[in-house]
Amino acid sequence: MHVDKREKRVMQITVIVLGVAIGALVLSMTASHKSLPSPAGRIRPEDVRSTAPFDNPGVRQVGDNEYEVIMIAQAWEWVPNRVEIPAGSHVTFKITSVDVIHGFRVPDTDLNAMVIPGQITEVDVDFDEARDFTLLCHEYCGIGHHRMGADIVIVEN
Ligand code: CUA
Repeated sequence: MHVDKREKRVMQITVIVLGVAIGALVLSMTASHKSLPSPAGRIRPEDVRSTAPFDNPGVRQVGDNEYEVIMIAQAWEWVPNRVEIPAGSHVTFKITSVDVIHGFRVPDTDLNAMVIPGQITEVDVDFDEARDFTLLCHEYCGIGHHRMGADIVIVEN
């Protein structure tokens, strides 16, 4: 196959630019100890409500200053729709959806993940000081999408 010299040059440059971009992405993630939200398991969406831990959504303490929040996303609410956590805590959210894809986003934090039906999404964060956060759905999920919110209240320890 004949490839024009200039075309070949453009292909080489493309490969180099892509390589540099991917390298920079990997490097920045390693350097900042960030990781992408990873699937932490799967449940058949119709079985979510009867499968632990999602049969009992809410906040639980799992260690000194360590909490776990079990949460279900469904059209068009978060269950529970209000959680209270003491300031100075490390919190892991375990979330899944029972119906369609929702988006888990808490502005002013690093929390940002997709919530896929039956797939357990795990994200964690440190809440250092008392303040209120709003959990939003940032994935269009139907007519009630815009009102799919929840309160995350960090209380004085
Ligand atoms: Cu749930 Cu948008």
